Amino acid sequence: MEERMRLQHVSLRGRRFLIQFYEIMREFGGVIPWLDGMDEMRFATDGRWFCDELLRRLGQRNGRVTPYQFVDADDGRTFVGGILHFDESPEMLRDSRNAKTVERLTAGGASYISCLQVRPTRQGVGVASHMMKRAIEAILARHGSVWGVVSDHRLLPWYASLGATLPSPLNNQDGLWVVSWRSDP
Ligand SMILES: CC(C)(COP(=O)(O)OP(=O)(O)OC[C@H]1O[C@@H](n2cnc3c(N)ncnc32)[C@H](O)[C@@H]1OP(=O)(O)O)[C@@H](O)C(=O)NCCC(=O)NCCS
Repeated sequence: MEERMRLQHVSLRGRRFLIQFYEIMREFGGVIPWLDGMDEMRFATDGRWFCDELLRRLGQRNGRVTPYQFVDADDGRTFVGGILHFDESPEMLRDSRNAKTVERLTAGGASYISCLQVRPTRQGVGVASHMMKRAIEAILARHGSVWGVVSDHRLLPWYASLGATLPSPLNNQDGLWVVSWRSDP
């Protein structure tokens, strides 16, 4: 696994991100509220338009979204999965305890990660375990502390094994669990 996989951050305007976005919509379209209405965008062929439109729809015209990709070290640099980093979170949490946690994390300078995925045909053999260790390390070094949400509580022990803090109560109104990582001062 170590020999075969690479972690790379890519441009939001390029063809490489459009492949990832296509997979994001397939996996999370209809699930993540801030992706609502973006389905048609995965067929965009103009990267510049796509990037501007994505940031406009997220209400982050001056924001920065950085895609990280897990790629095979083959000749095609084949896309296997990835994760997105946002300087500003588009997430709206309703549970007051979750909202307070996010307020505290944001006030402390933490940014946001989302849309972790591994292509279905490559799941279950340790890709995410191997790549998330590297991704979290790279993201903390480049962007500082980060948080995200988990939509399946059965994954929480795995996030804990990746060094995440889990501040959300198990039963909460959002049915989402905050995970956060602190960068070393
Ligand atoms: C979640 C996901 C990224 C895991 O990728 P993967 O490469 O298959 O994961 P790995 O093989 O490295 O296993 C990672 C851990 O996830 C656990 N896991 C994966 N799917 C699970 C599920 N449905 N329920 C419980 N645990 C699960 C594995 O048991 C493993 O934990 P362990 O090491 O403690 O046993 C992948 O299944 C995926 O893309 N799912 C769809 C999108 C998604 O749910 N993303 C997460 C959003 S929070």
